[in-house]
Amino acid sequence: RRHLLGIEGLSYPEITGLLDLADEYVALNRQVEKKRAILRGRTQVNLFFEASTRTQSSFEIAGKRLGADVMNMSVNSSSMKKGETLIDTAVTLNAMHPDILVVRHQDSGAVALLARKVDCSVINAGDGAHEHPTQALLDALTIRRNKGAIDQLTVAICGDILHSRVARSNIILLNTLGARVRVVAPTTLLPGGIERFGVEVYRDMREGLRDADIVMMLRLQRERMNGSFVPSVREYFHYYGLDPAKLRYAKPDALVMHPGPMNRGVEIDSSVADGAQSLINEQVEMGVAVRMAALDALSRHLPNA
Ligand code: CP
Repeated sequence: RRHLLGIEGLSYPEITGLLDLADEYVALNRQVEKKRAILRGRTQVNLFFEASTRTQSSFEIAGKRLGADVMNMSVNSSSMKKGETLIDTAVTLNAMHPDILVVRHQDSGAVALLARKVDCSVINAGDGAHEHPTQALLDALTIRRNKGAIDQLTVAICGDILHSRVARSNIILLNTLGARVRVVAPTTLLPGGIERFGVEVYRDMREGLRDADIVMMLRLQRERMNGSFVPSVREYFHYYGLDPAKLRYAKPDALVMHPGPMNRGVEIDSSVADGAQSLINEQVEMGVAVRMAALDALSRHLPNA
């Protein structure tokens, strides 16, 4: 493959192959000397039209550890501020012969559109509510390293499913690997027809968490709601916020995940986020390894590779 635009369409061996490769990078990243020359001479441009802490910084670290020249395009001070379109921006960057573009955009489908206009490899770092493939891969790697085989597990994905590209990519990936996937949310935060993605739908947190192995919390994305979020944040936390009492409905050895950024006291209580069952910091570590694996895998399909 030349691009990584989504989890949709990736096969079981492609996913597990990326996870196996990422496992090697976890080991490398824990050593003093962390560099490989796989992308030496290559140019990677990170083009983020939406804010990011984890994804952008880990793609930068990943590219540099593999020897690439990495440029973070500053969208806010670019000519897009003067009205240049997404495509003209992409075509302009393409003329500088980058090898890999890592793109985040607020609109679903924008990254795939851009990929059709450039000659280099494109990685989707999150497009609207559509997909965030490297997030789902790092989540799967975190689960696999802690729980072993994913096909034996029940994973409850909770909260703002409607606006979540993380949920969508995770549902596709976890289903491909054979997990039992539940979504837990109020009706207002569930996309219509979500059942066709092969998930069990729960509107009650306690029922949805019952005997779950993994509890994956999502951020309430109020910036995408145009002020139309009906329950107050306090009510939301009461019914859907993960606190120790609700977590007790999951298996005793259940593990808690959150892709970040977290809204503490909105979708998750600090005592759970920072507690013994939390994998949240480990997810961040896995993010660098997974992005190194994705860059490594795509590099084999670059011209003259
Ligand atoms: N999980 C995630 O995509 O985080 P950032 O928005 O900080 O990149």
